[in-house]
Amino acid sequence: EKAGFDHFMLKEIYEQPKAYRETMLGRIAEDGQSVNLSKEIEMSDDYVKSISKIHIVACGTAYHAGLVGKTVIESLARIPVETDVASEYRYRSPIITPDTLVIVVSQSGETADTLAAMREAQRNGARVLAVTNVVGSSVAREANDVLVTWAGPEIAVASTKAYSSQLIAFYLLGLHLARVRGTQTTEQMTEIIHALTALPEQVESILEQAAVLKQVAESMSHHQSLFFIGRGVDYAVAQEGSLKLKEISYIHSEAYAAGELKHGTLALIEDGIPVIALISQEDLYEKTLSNIKEVKARGAHVLAVTNQGFEAEVAKSVDEVFSIPKTLPVLTPALSVVPLQLISYYASLALGHDVDKPRNLAKSVTVE
Ligand code: F6R
Repeated sequence: EKAGFDHFMLKEIYEQPKAYRETMLGRIAEDGQSVNLSKEIEMSDDYVKSISKIHIVACGTAYHAGLVGKTVIESLARIPVETDVASEYRYRSPIITPDTLVIVVSQSGETADTLAAMREAQRNGARVLAVTNVVGSSVAREANDVLVTWAGPEIAVASTKAYSSQLIAFYLLGLHLARVRGTQTTEQMTEIIHALTALPEQVESILEQAAVLKQVAESMSHHQSLFFIGRGVDYAVAQEGSLKLKEISYIHSEAYAAGELKHGTLALIEDGIPVIALISQEDLYEKTLSNIKEVKARGAHVLAVTNQGFEAEVAKSVDEVFSIPKTLPVLTPALSVVPLQLISYYASLALGHDVDKPRNLAKSVTVE
């Protein structure tokens, strides 16, 4: 059942190219110029044009996908988006109006906090679109619209392919909304779709370099604590990388917006502490690089996860570099998360933990 892999988590990491392809299948126009989800989601074009804001609500890893989703929808469709943790959302009296679209993201479709948040949103008159991996789940049944991630069953407690397929769902949704609202030109949409369809093969090329990441993970596994830093979507991916590492290796880590370090956290950067720095965004490159230099100057051991284009330059300022293939800035999360998943996996393995069933956690959390 593990298809020759030692753990479900590793199998599921390797299933990501397939999960991406399946999630895109049938949703992109044959000419590669647009995305049309009208066959699956019932919201009319008039409704899509009337949306004044979007709330993305989810827990844990799905929340981290929602953080990327915010950037994707805001940049492609120019609709204001707020992303909330479901267990907080309900209790902050969110301002929900009939023209608020609420998007809930849940792999299992059974998470109690997410369900409760969605019911609250519907009570307040919002339309709810669910992004889920389980077709007949509670969330799928109760939502007004469902966008399924075709990642296939996810068995390992630590979510990998479900998260990255949620990113693909957000790219598709962003392109759908952009087409209806006319916020991207055909040339722009064609370029994004072209890059989107290249992602599965690009993930394959990352997976071929797993041995390098195993070494990195083994040396990190001796540490008590480490940091992930990044800006923009790199920060969102940093948060997911940090959660994954804590969840299965039990090594303490924190994800920090790279520019926030100097507002207190730099005090914790001491000699030898590992820092995983994500630096994939062209417009933020110089800024993040200077943050990397700040931690280097305090003795951090830095692994940079960067784009092929920046590799040579970044290498001068860090201890190790891992490059992801070139893609559009908004699409990098679908690639940069993969090395972080592998680092978590190999760190957990090196420490002898139960990778697929980490302590104190359940796959589906049905209590609030
Ligand atoms: C972490 C993880 C959890 C889930 C969270 C939400 O690897 O799996 O953080 O993402 O419990 O679960 P779903 O997506 O099923 O609502």
